[in-house]
Amino acid sequence: MPVNIAIDGPAGAGKSTIAKAVSKQLGFIYVDTGALYRAVAYHMLSKGIAADDRKGVPEELEKLDSGYFSLRFIDGTQHVFCGDEDVSGKIRTPEVSMGASTVSAIPEVRKFLFELQRRIASENNIIMDGRDIGTVVLPNADLKIYLTASPEERANRRFKELSEKQGCPTYEQVLADIKQRDYNDMHRDISPLKRADDAVLADTSDVDLEGAIKMVLELVKDKCGIT
Ligand code: DC
Repeated sequence: MPVNIAIDGPAGAGKSTIAKAVSKQLGFIYVDTGALYRAVAYHMLSKGIAADDRKGVPEELEKLDSGYFSLRFIDGTQHVFCGDEDVSGKIRTPEVSMGASTVSAIPEVRKFLFELQRRIASENNIIMDGRDIGTVVLPNADLKIYLTASPEERANRRFKELSEKQGCPTYEQVLADIKQRDYNDMHRDISPLKRADDAVLADTSDVDLEGAIKMVLELVKDKCGIT
């Protein structure tokens, strides 16, 4: 049976950076499920369909085959595809981030992506991160971690990342977006972001990246016996 590790938490908590580093060390595949929701948002935006269009989004999904959004692992790195188009770079804009949060509240979207996530986890040793991995997608995961940090610290980190790119928003804008996304993700009716009862809480507000990676590796060692 493959080993499944679930990491959930709010935007900017460091899930992907930490999960990537830990996966590399363990020789596991890192699966970033947020990229799938981002790909759906990107697709809808490119078709001129609003992310909150609860009629138009499901209608568009019905036209697509079940494998339209896919994850391919090239040299150990995840790439996300819409059909044959590699959209890995294009889904990281603030517009797509907010669109992903909005579109992810639509039940048909979650249903569309569910089986894909389950299948990947059933076939590989993985660390999967998202919002509902420990609660809904992999309720029997070998280890569940709820990774969080204060909104200000998360905005700080995101701002630093974005400030290296052109057209960077202000810190205040980044913080407002983070708070809005937290609210959306925690208050939607279906699969809201919350800590699973059996998830270990890891707060990284006062821990640097290396410390957080060490923290997660220790948990993997304790719970899964893997070093
Ligand atoms: O992890 P991320 O910031 O790339 O995720 C983008 C959005 O996708 C996030 O705001 C909520 C949604 N999402 C989700 O609803 N469930 C997941 N498992 C992963 C992401």
